[in-house]
Amino acid sequence: MGNSRVSVIGAGLMGHGIAQTFAVAGHRVRIYDAFPKVLESAPARIEAICDLLGQDKAGLRNLSYHGGFEEAVADAEFVFEAAPEKPELKQEIFERLGKSAPADAILCTNTSAIPIHEVGKRVADRSRVIGTHYWNPPHLVPLVEVVQSEFTSPEVVEKTMRILESAGRAPVHVKRDIPGFIGNACSTR
Ligand SMILES: NC(=O)c1ccc[n+]([C@@H]2O[C@H](COP(=O)([O-])OP(=O)(O)OC[C@H]3O[C@@H](n4cnc5c(N)ncnc54)[C@H](O)[C@@H]3O)[C@@H](O)[C@H]2O)c1
Repeated sequence: MGNSRVSVIGAGLMGHGIAQTFAVAGHRVRIYDAFPKVLESAPARIEAICDLLGQDKAGLRNLSYHGGFEEAVADAEFVFEAAPEKPELKQEIFERLGKSAPADAILCTNTSAIPIHEVGKRVADRSRVIGTHYWNPPHLVPLVEVVQSEFTSPEVVEKTMRILESAGRAPVHVKRDIPGFIGNACSTR
Protein backbone atom coordinates (compact mmCIF):
# COMPACT_ATOMS: atom_id res chain seq x y z
CA MET A 1 0.00 0.00 0.00
CA GLY A 2 1.25 3.44 -0.71
CA ASN A 3 1.45 6.99 0.44
CA SER A 4 2.44 8.79 -2.75
CA ARG A 5 0.95 12.02 -4.01
CA VAL A 6 -0.97 11.20 -7.19
CA SER A 7 -2.90 13.53 -9.50
CA VAL A 8 -5.38 12.38 -12.13
CA ILE A 9 -6.24 14.63 -15.09
CA GLY A 10 -9.69 13.88 -16.47
CA ALA A 11 -12.43 12.27 -14.37
CA GLY A 12 -14.30 10.49 -17.16
CA LEU A 13 -14.70 6.79 -17.81
CA MET A 14 -11.02 5.94 -17.27
CA GLY A 15 -9.92 8.71 -14.91
CA HIS A 16 -12.43 8.05 -12.14
CA GLY A 17 -11.54 4.35 -12.10
CA ILE A 18 -7.80 5.04 -12.10
CA ALA A 19 -8.23 7.48 -9.21
CA GLN A 20 -10.26 4.93 -7.24
CA THR A 21 -7.55 2.28 -7.49
CA PHE A 22 -4.90 4.63 -6.07
CA ALA A 23 -7.14 6.04 -3.32
CA VAL A 24 -8.15 2.65 -1.90
CA ALA A 25 -4.47 1.63 -1.99
CA GLY A 26 -3.65 4.51 0.37
CA HIS A 27 -2.28 7.11 -2.02
CA ARG A 28 -3.38 10.73 -1.77
CA VAL A 29 -5.20 11.52 -5.00
CA ARG A 30 -6.15 14.89 -6.47
CA ILE A 31 -8.55 14.75 -9.40
CA TYR A 32 -8.83 17.54 -11.96
CA ASP A 33 -11.36 17.84 -14.76
CA ALA A 34 -11.98 20.79 -17.07
CA PHE A 35 -15.76 20.42 -16.64
CA PRO A 36 -17.43 21.10 -13.23
CA LYS A 37 -20.33 18.71 -13.94
CA VAL A 38 -17.88 15.84 -14.39
CA LEU A 39 -16.24 16.68 -11.07
CA GLU A 40 -19.67 16.87 -9.37
CA SER A 41 -20.61 13.39 -10.52
CA ALA A 42 -17.21 11.82 -9.81
CA PRO A 43 -17.62 11.04 -6.08
CA ALA A 44 -20.79 9.00 -6.65
CA ARG A 45 -19.22 7.18 -9.59
CA ILE A 46 -16.16 6.36 -7.51
CA GLU A 47 -18.26 5.18 -4.55
CA ALA A 48 -20.14 2.92 -6.95
CA ILE A 49 -16.86 1.15 -7.76
CA CYS A 50 -16.34 0.38 -4.06
CA ASP A 51 -19.92 -0.95 -3.90
CA LEU A 52 -19.32 -3.10 -6.98
CA LEU A 53 -16.09 -4.54 -5.62
CA GLY A 54 -17.21 -4.75 -1.99
CA GLN A 55 -14.32 -2.49 -0.97
CA ASP A 56 -14.11 -0.41 2.18
CA LYS A 57 -14.86 3.23 1.36
CA ALA A 58 -12.49 4.54 4.02
CA GLY A 59 -9.78 4.99 1.38
CA LEU A 60 -11.96 7.48 -0.49
CA ARG A 61 -11.04 10.12 2.06
CA ASN A 62 -7.69 10.19 0.21
CA LEU A 63 -9.45 11.83 -2.74
CA SER A 64 -9.99 15.51 -3.44
CA TYR A 65 -11.59 17.19 -6.43
CA HIS A 66 -10.19 20.26 -8.15
CA GLY A 67 -11.38 22.66 -10.82
CA GLY A 68 -7.98 24.35 -10.85
CA PHE A 69 -5.23 22.63 -12.83
CA GLU A 70 -2.26 24.12 -10.98
CA GLU A 71 -3.59 23.36 -7.48
CA ALA A 72 -4.32 19.78 -8.56
CA VAL A 73 -0.76 19.05 -9.68
CA ALA A 74 1.40 21.47 -7.65
CA ASP A 75 2.94 18.84 -5.34
CA ALA A 76 2.33 15.67 -7.37
CA GLU A 77 4.83 12.83 -7.46
CA PHE A 78 2.87 11.09 -10.22
CA VAL A 79 0.34 12.52 -12.68
CA PHE A 80 -1.96 10.15 -14.61
CA GLU A 81 -3.56 11.89 -17.59
CA ALA A 82 -6.88 10.50 -18.83
CA ALA A 83 -8.21 13.33 -21.01
CA PRO A 84 -9.80 12.79 -24.46
CA GLU A 85 -7.78 11.02 -27.15
CA LYS A 86 -6.80 14.16 -29.08
CA PRO A 87 -3.08 14.61 -29.78
CA GLU A 88 -3.12 18.42 -29.65
CA LEU A 89 -5.07 18.44 -26.36
CA LYS A 90 -2.73 15.94 -24.72
CA GLN A 91 0.32 17.90 -25.91
CA GLU A 92 -1.17 21.07 -24.38
CA ILE A 93 -1.87 19.29 -21.10
CA PHE A 94 1.66 17.88 -20.94
CA GLU A 95 3.19 21.25 -21.76
CA ARG A 96 1.22 22.66 -18.80
CA LEU A 97 2.22 19.75 -16.60
CA GLY A 98 5.86 20.32 -17.48
CA LYS A 99 5.55 23.82 -16.04
CA SER A 100 3.06 23.31 -13.17
CA ALA A 101 3.98 19.95 -11.65
CA PRO A 102 7.19 19.55 -9.61
CA ALA A 103 10.29 19.14 -11.79
CA ASP A 104 10.72 15.52 -10.67
CA ALA A 105 7.06 14.49 -11.01
CA ILE A 106 6.49 11.47 -13.26
CA LEU A 107 4.03 12.33 -16.03
CA CYS A 108 1.93 9.38 -17.26
CA THR A 109 -0.50 9.32 -20.17
CA ASN A 110 -3.34 6.85 -20.63
CA THR A 111 -3.41 7.38 -24.38
CA SER A 112 -4.70 4.32 -26.22
CA ALA A 113 -2.61 4.76 -29.33
CA ILE A 114 -0.69 8.04 -29.60
CA PRO A 115 3.09 7.48 -29.36
CA ILE A 116 4.43 8.68 -26.01
CA HIS A 117 7.13 10.81 -27.62
CA GLU A 118 4.33 12.69 -29.42
CA VAL A 119 2.29 13.27 -26.26
CA GLY A 120 5.35 14.62 -24.42
CA LYS A 121 6.95 16.58 -27.26
CA ARG A 122 6.42 19.97 -25.55
CA VAL A 123 7.80 18.90 -22.15
CA ALA A 124 11.34 20.21 -21.57
CA ASP A 125 12.44 17.07 -19.70
CA ARG A 126 10.98 14.13 -21.61
CA SER A 127 12.77 11.58 -19.45
CA ARG A 128 9.83 11.75 -17.03
CA VAL A 129 7.06 11.20 -19.59
CA ILE A 130 5.73 7.65 -19.85
CA GLY A 131 2.67 5.76 -21.10
CA THR A 132 0.40 3.93 -18.69
CA HIS A 133 -2.17 2.35 -20.95
CA TYR A 134 -4.99 0.93 -18.84
CA TRP A 135 -7.88 -1.11 -20.15
CA ASN A 136 -11.53 -0.42 -19.53
CA PRO A 137 -12.71 -0.62 -16.81
CA PRO A 138 -9.41 0.22 -15.14
CA HIS A 139 -10.57 -0.91 -11.68
CA LEU A 140 -11.45 -4.38 -13.04
CA VAL A 141 -8.78 -5.09 -15.66
CA PRO A 142 -5.37 -5.25 -13.93
CA LEU A 143 -3.24 -5.04 -17.11
CA VAL A 144 -1.47 -1.72 -17.69
CA GLU A 145 0.98 -1.30 -20.58
CA VAL A 146 3.85 0.82 -19.27
CA VAL A 147 5.27 2.31 -22.44
CA GLN A 148 8.65 4.00 -22.52
CA SER A 149 9.64 6.41 -25.24
CA GLU A 150 13.21 6.80 -26.44
CA PHE A 151 13.56 9.57 -23.84
CA THR A 152 12.02 7.90 -20.76
CA SER A 153 14.53 7.15 -18.01
CA PRO A 154 14.86 3.62 -16.57
CA GLU A 155 14.22 5.04 -13.09
CA VAL A 156 10.90 6.49 -14.25
CA VAL A 157 9.92 3.10 -15.72
CA GLU A 158 10.82 1.38 -12.45
CA LYS A 159 8.95 3.83 -10.22
CA THR A 160 5.88 3.68 -12.45
CA MET A 161 5.83 -0.12 -12.38
CA ARG A 162 6.07 -0.03 -8.56
CA ILE A 163 3.25 2.43 -7.96
CA LEU A 164 0.96 0.52 -10.29
CA GLU A 165 1.73 -2.71 -8.44
CA SER A 166 1.00 -0.96 -5.14
CA ALA A 167 -2.48 -0.25 -6.47
CA GLY A 168 -3.09 -3.88 -7.41
CA ARG A 169 -2.37 -3.48 -11.12
CA ALA A 170 -0.35 -5.86 -13.29
CA PRO A 171 1.99 -3.58 -15.27
CA VAL A 172 3.92 -4.86 -18.28
CA HIS A 173 6.91 -2.94 -19.61
CA VAL A 174 6.57 -2.11 -23.30
CA LYS A 175 9.86 -1.02 -24.86
CA ARG A 176 8.69 0.06 -28.30
CA ASP A 177 6.82 3.35 -28.58
CA ILE A 178 4.73 2.49 -31.63
CA PRO A 179 1.13 3.62 -32.29
CA GLY A 180 -1.24 1.40 -30.31
CA PHE A 181 1.66 -0.16 -28.35
CA ILE A 182 1.13 -3.95 -28.15
CA GLY A 183 -2.55 -4.44 -27.33
CA ASN A 184 -4.14 -1.99 -29.71
CA ALA A 185 -1.52 -2.36 -32.46
CA CYS A 186 -2.04 -6.11 -32.59
CA SER A 187 -5.81 -6.03 -32.19
CA THR A 188 -6.24 -3.67 -35.16
CA ARG A 189 -4.08 -5.73 -37.55
N1 LIG B 1 -12.60 4.21 -22.79
C1 LIG B 1 -11.73 3.21 -22.99
O1 LIG B 1 -12.09 2.04 -23.24
C2 LIG B 1 -10.24 3.48 -22.88
C3 LIG B 1 -9.36 2.42 -22.65
C4 LIG B 1 -7.99 2.69 -22.53
C5 LIG B 1 -7.54 4.00 -22.67
N2 LIG B 1 -8.43 4.99 -22.93
C6 LIG B 1 -7.90 6.36 -23.08
O2 LIG B 1 -8.14 7.09 -21.88
C7 LIG B 1 -8.28 8.47 -22.20
C8 LIG B 1 -9.60 8.95 -21.64
O3 LIG B 1 -10.64 8.19 -22.21
P1 LIG B 1 -12.06 8.08 -21.51
O4 LIG B 1 -12.75 6.93 -22.16
O5 LIG B 1 -11.94 8.12 -20.05
O6 LIG B 1 -12.75 9.44 -22.02
P2 LIG B 1 -13.89 10.28 -21.31
O7 LIG B 1 -14.43 11.18 -22.37
O8 LIG B 1 -14.83 9.40 -20.57
O9 LIG B 1 -13.10 11.16 -20.23
C9 LIG B 1 -12.28 12.22 -20.58
C10 LIG B 1 -12.42 13.28 -19.51
O10 LIG B 1 -11.51 14.33 -19.77
C11 LIG B 1 -12.16 15.53 -19.46
N3 LIG B 1 -11.49 16.62 -20.17
C12 LIG B 1 -11.77 17.18 -21.36
N4 LIG B 1 -10.89 18.16 -21.64
C13 LIG B 1 -10.03 18.18 -20.59
C14 LIG B 1 -8.91 18.98 -20.28
N5 LIG B 1 -8.48 19.94 -21.11
N6 LIG B 1 -8.28 18.76 -19.12
C15 LIG B 1 -8.70 17.81 -18.28
N7 LIG B 1 -9.76 17.01 -18.52
C16 LIG B 1 -10.41 17.22 -19.66
C17 LIG B 1 -13.60 15.34 -19.85
O11 LIG B 1 -14.46 16.24 -19.16
C18 LIG B 1 -13.82 13.90 -19.44
O12 LIG B 1 -14.30 13.81 -18.09
C19 LIG B 1 -8.17 8.57 -23.72
O13 LIG B 1 -6.86 8.90 -24.07
C20 LIG B 1 -8.53 7.18 -24.18
O14 LIG B 1 -7.98 6.85 -25.44
C21 LIG B 1 -9.76 4.79 -23.03
